Amino acid sequence: MDAVRLVEVGPRDGLQNEVRSLSVDTRVSLVERLAAAGLRTLEVGAFVSPRWVPQMAGTDQVVSRLGQRPGVTYTALVPNLQGLDAALAVGCQEVAVFAAASEMFSQRNINCSIDQSLARFRPVLAKARKAGVAVRGYVSCIHGCPFSGDVSVSQVVRVAAALYEMGCYEISLGDTIGVGTPRATARLIAACAKEIPVVTLAGHFHDTYGMAVANIHAALEAGVRVFDSSVSGLGGCPYSPGATGNVATEELVYLLERQGIKTGVDLEQLIEVGVFIDRQLQRSGGSRVAKAMLTRQALTRPNVT
Ligand code: HMG
Ligand code: MG
Repeated sequence: MDAVRLVEVGPRDGLQNEVRSLSVDTRVSLVERLAAAGLRTLEVGAFVSPRWVPQMAGTDQVVSRLGQRPGVTYTALVPNLQGLDAALAVGCQEVAVFAAASEMFSQRNINCSIDQSLARFRPVLAKARKAGVAVRGYVSCIHGCPFSGDVSVSQVVRVAAALYEMGCYEISLGDTIGVGTPRATARLIAACAKEIPVVTLAGHFHDTYGMAVANIHAALEAGVRVFDSSVSGLGGCPYSPGATGNVATEELVYLLERQGIKTGVDLEQLIEVGVFIDRQLQRSGGSRVAKAMLTRQALTRPNVT
């Protein structure tokens, strides 16, 4: 295995669920620091209703301020044409639509049924294609729903296949509430891979039950080569009560690099970004790798007075 592609979702999935809303300046600084640490795909915000997710207000300013950085892709969520138009207006290079495998989650998250959401995304895909903008697709609740419990594998496959068929270049499978286990993950990926190429699948694991790294390992074994993560394990989902953040990017980089799989990310620099954003949010860090490495650094560094 040569390389894995990382999609940093901290500035969106992370910040959307933090109690404190950060200024545009701080959000831009976070993204720029993450890119400097070597992350090449960054989800920097969401063109959604600020009434539903106030933390993502000002995404248009974030995208405008970031501009273009060679070799780096900035992307953002769009739930409908209104969101896509806002993204196109500020020159977004890539966007993502987000569906769910659970009816109740779909209603609570985007105020429509699964089929209504898929119908809503078709014109979004068509317009994005005309504008030369790539579209990624998410399927939430792959291993369970915070409101209705179990979700069937066939429902996940159906939604993933629909997003792929309408033109999403990659389908990110989201364990929104972090209830998955490695065997369930392997089974689900095998089922999806019967309908769509495994190279178009990505893993998006929240770490609520501490299973994210195990699930990533299972997904790697099943052929998945793209993973989403958030620096310092930021966030959760505003419509998923009790959900904690994504797997920390530090954990993902450590897992991969220590096994000889290249990520292109400088782990020490990434840990510094985690310290920066945790200070801004006045939260304690969510990465065990960062904690361990910072502790070791403090022990081995000569005292400077
Ligand atoms: P709605 O109320 O049904 O929308 O919300 P509407 O079309 O009836 O419009 C109502 C108002 O919203 C109008 O404003 C529209 O202009 C406005 P008003 O006239 O009342 O002033 N509106 C918008 N404003 C800004 N941007 C837009 C937009 N569209 C309409 N794009 C809507 C439907 C989808 C807008 C709403 O439900 C929403 O914004 N939901 C956001 C949900 C969200 O962001 N959830 C978190 C991301 S999903 C996630 O975290 C899971 C993931 O990480 C994977 C995983 O972990 O599983 C991806
Ligand atoms: Mg998520």
